[in-house]
Amino acid sequence: MSQKVVFISSKIPEAGLALLKQDGYQVIEWDSERRINKEELIAHCKDAHALLNARSTQLDEEFFKACSHLEIVSLLSAGYDHVDLAAANNYRVPVTNTPGVLSKATADTAFLLMMAASRKAFFQHKKIINGKWQKNLPTDLLGIELRGKTLGIFGLGQIGLEMGRMCKRALDMEIIYHNRTRNEAAEEVLDATWVSFDELLDRSDVISVHSALTADTKGRFNKDVFYRMKSNAIFINTSRGAVHNEMDLISVLEEKRIWGAGLDVTNPEPMSPDNPLLFMENVAVLPHIGSATVETRNEMSLLAAKNIIARFNDEILLTCLNP
Ligand code: DGY
Repeated sequence: MSQKVVFISSKIPEAGLALLKQDGYQVIEWDSERRINKEELIAHCKDAHALLNARSTQLDEEFFKACSHLEIVSLLSAGYDHVDLAAANNYRVPVTNTPGVLSKATADTAFLLMMAASRKAFFQHKKIINGKWQKNLPTDLLGIELRGKTLGIFGLGQIGLEMGRMCKRALDMEIIYHNRTRNEAAEEVLDATWVSFDELLDRSDVISVHSALTADTKGRFNKDVFYRMKSNAIFINTSRGAVHNEMDLISVLEEKRIWGAGLDVTNPEPMSPDNPLLFMENVAVLPHIGSATVETRNEMSLLAAKNIIARFNDEILLTCLNP
């Protein structure tokens, strides 16, 4: 068997890289810190047999058509909204992702953002940096408590389940959720209740988005939706920035129609450093670091490598998106 060529479109943790090398693949890595663009990706994948894709460069019809030797695209992410799966099917290229292994780390990030928004933590931190910590009046920059309140999960999958677990255990929160189809297993673990989207908006003190970005969820959280939320509600998004309308979010926060927001994902990414969200008291923003822990990124790289190895050994793929 001739040596298979694996192109890796960004630096990845050593664990996955070592596994591929140890199995005898010819691994070619994109050697720049700069995000690879589509032309460069096509040029590198034209003769490759596998792509391990660690950055969200669009993989569309043109890409799959041009890269006719590809036998697998292994994504180093759970999200796959940047991949045209119908085009992958047309060219018979299996696409895999890395769900599950990143659920806890991503939920940690959602929890962190929720707490930070409720206590204005990022703004308080900036106050110190800006030399504004002089006195603490009893009425200064007060937060709100979440203990015993209601968490509304939009998209209860594995990440939502972990977020629900933490909110339940740590803060004794009641869990409600909205999915297109019920997740009965998670309902049992969390003692959670499925509610309509309208009821989710009416009842939640925190709404945490954990859905995939699809035609149905794109722009779902817009001005009308934010207006329907409780006046003390906190909006958390760790899935994809395009699920919320950022201009609408800015204006409802400026109008103080909801309490605050915590975002790990923005639209666009990277966010501009002069985005008003970065200067609001009740808003916490992070640069899409949901799964960015040493442990999780290692697991993701291993899973991505194992999918490639399974493909070339004619074994069942561990996490295939287009069977
Ligand atoms: C994921 O895995 O989808 C994370 O959001 C990183 O893109």
